[in-house]
Amino acid sequence: MPSPSHTLELPLLHAGKVRRLYDAGDGLLLMVATDQISAFDVVMAEPVPDKGRVLTAMAAFWFEHLADVAATHLVSTSLDDLPERARRPELAGRVMLCRRAEMLPIECIVRGYLAGSAWREYRQEGTVHGEPAPAGLQESDRLPEPVFTPSTKADEGHDVNLSFAQAVDLVGREVAEQARDLSLELYRRGAERAAARGFLVADTKFELGVVDGELVVADEVLTPDSSRFWPAERWEPGSTPPSYDKEPLRQWLDGLDWDKAPPPPPLPPEVVAATRARYVEAYERLTDRSLAAWPGSSGDGDAGDGGGDR
Ligand SMILES: Nc1ncnc2c1ncn2[C@@H]1O[C@H](COP(=O)(O)OP(=O)(O)O)[C@@H](O)[C@H]1O
Ligand SMILES: [Mg+2]
Repeated sequence: MPSPSHTLELPLLHAGKVRRLYDAGDGLLLMVATDQISAFDVVMAEPVPDKGRVLTAMAAFWFEHLADVAATHLVSTSLDDLPERARRPELAGRVMLCRRAEMLPIECIVRGYLAGSAWREYRQEGTVHGEPAPAGLQESDRLPEPVFTPSTKADEGHDVNLSFAQAVDLVGREVAEQARDLSLELYRRGAERAAARGFLVADTKFELGVVDGELVVADEVLTPDSSRFWPAERWEPGSTPPSYDKEPLRQWLDGLDWDKAPPPPPLPPEVVAATRARYVEAYERLTDRSLAAWPGSSGDGDAGDGGGDR
């Protein structure tokens, strides 16, 4: 089996590219992170062992680290707290039990550097998210201040930028301002921590929601799947640094004659192993924690996952 499906006997609410969301009852959700990986928007056939655990561990670390900035949806990452039917050893380390939130219909993106679509806009229009920006910035340059650049949440296709006024139209002024201020502070604190460990957070996406009338941080936070992490020593304005986590995979794919449309090419074991090592290293460097100490490591009931190279 190329990829464990982690199918549970709970109502499946949403199957994303790499995660599954289940209804755990009592106003709770169960989020399961698989080891699947996508590149150029295509999900690879081979899982990257431990990727789901790394992403879960990293998000849990940030939820803790940022707890003084914002309330979060996270209730537990322990199998023991799951409904009995879901307490399966192969899920250890890759589950988040969360409070179900009324999600804001916007993606709360914060950018500290000129990358991706923001660089394309700046190059063409001289603006960042429709606002004037200093002249003469280069690709990957640091912005004078981190900026909140919300977008729509599109199920299919690309998210569309929203001006702050449009975000206000969607969620109301008070919530939009709260979401902006919270996102900027989460980014500032996360980027500060990351910088001290050799990573730049070029940009990141937060998903906020409302639980019991309170705005909380939901989904995942400051993971490689929601953020662009650059190795600080490879940052050089004028070019785009490699994305730390997916560099081995992207580089290998770039060397192929592949049209970046499904089906993906089969990945050689060395590429899978190198990619896995990057994820683990990013986690351990950012958090000063060892992945071996996280649930689901060998000797901790991880048998039968089907993805182990340990
Ligand atoms: N606490 C929560 N309550 C309700 N929905 C949530 C919560 N946390 C995350 N979500 C939603 O769960 C979904 C997770 O989907 P995801 O795995 O990112 O797949 P994709 O974005 O590829 O469709 C997103 O729509 C996100 O907004
Ligand atoms: Mg998503």
